[in-house]
Amino acid sequence: MNPDHKDHGRRVVGLFGRIAPWYDFLNHFLSLGCDVVWRKRLRRCVRVHRTNRVLDLAAGTLDVSREIVRHMPDVDVVAMDFSEPMLRRGQRKIRGKGEEGGSLSRPRIQPVVADGRALPARDECVDCVTIAFGIRNIRPREAAYREVLRVLTPGGRFCILEFGAGRQKILRGFYNLYLHRVLPLIGRIFSGDPQAYRYLAESIQEFPDAGTLCGELLQAGFARAYSVPMTFGIVQLHIAEKAGTEREV
Ligand SMILES: C[S@@+](CC[C@H](N)C(=O)[O-])C[C@H]1O[C@@H](n2cnc3c(N)ncnc32)[C@H](O)[C@@H]1O
Repeated sequence: MNPDHKDHGRRVVGLFGRIAPWYDFLNHFLSLGCDVVWRKRLRRCVRVHRTNRVLDLAAGTLDVSREIVRHMPDVDVVAMDFSEPMLRRGQRKIRGKGEEGGSLSRPRIQPVVADGRALPARDECVDCVTIAFGIRNIRPREAAYREVLRVLTPGGRFCILEFGAGRQKILRGFYNLYLHRVLPLIGRIFSGDPQAYRYLAESIQEFPDAGTLCGELLQAGFARAYSVPMTFGIVQLHIAEKAGTEREV
């Protein structure tokens, strides 16, 4: 792997390890609770047709994984993330709750420490891959696309939830102010780590727009890709589908 990408991966893992104790609180606080709605919308795009298994990539503190098992009783989730402290934080939330993964006989959420660029999973072993606010942290993104395509069953779906640039000009001004001033300030006050929240703002700004991202997904080999803007384009849901006839429509 290119040393820059290796380095970036290490830095990102360190960063999320440091902010893990504050991650959930700051997430809800900084998004004014919108993150809950955005993840629900992502879950509604999840489809299964053969394995009844979903891979939640960059699963963090498991909010997407929990949302899936809560609403899809026949589905199991493999929750992969590079940062062990983030997954551990998530596991504390599911411990003791049978319906969300606490059953010893068949835990429905299986957390695995793994790099999205080299997934420890067989070919065609999941029907759907979700990733919420994770893809912009992975470099190069193409390595993740390749792995997602490999592990998806034919007809499987890749559902990406990610920040967008904000579509309206006036809103974009406020949004930029928020990203570059408010976010690092609040991050510093609560987590003592302004650098982490500065990185967050920069990574959002560097992320490609919806059209470019869909182009990347098609180029990577997905048969179909489209985006749905949410909250004035502050967040985008990107759906990409692997070729195949097995998925029921
Ligand atoms: C902003 S958090 C999102 C967590 C969760 N999906 C959510 O909705 O809150 C980004 C996550 O991506 C993970 N991550 C970053 N690079 C990764 C990689 N190469 N492979 C797997 N996970 C990665 C980080 O450890 C972090 O937990």
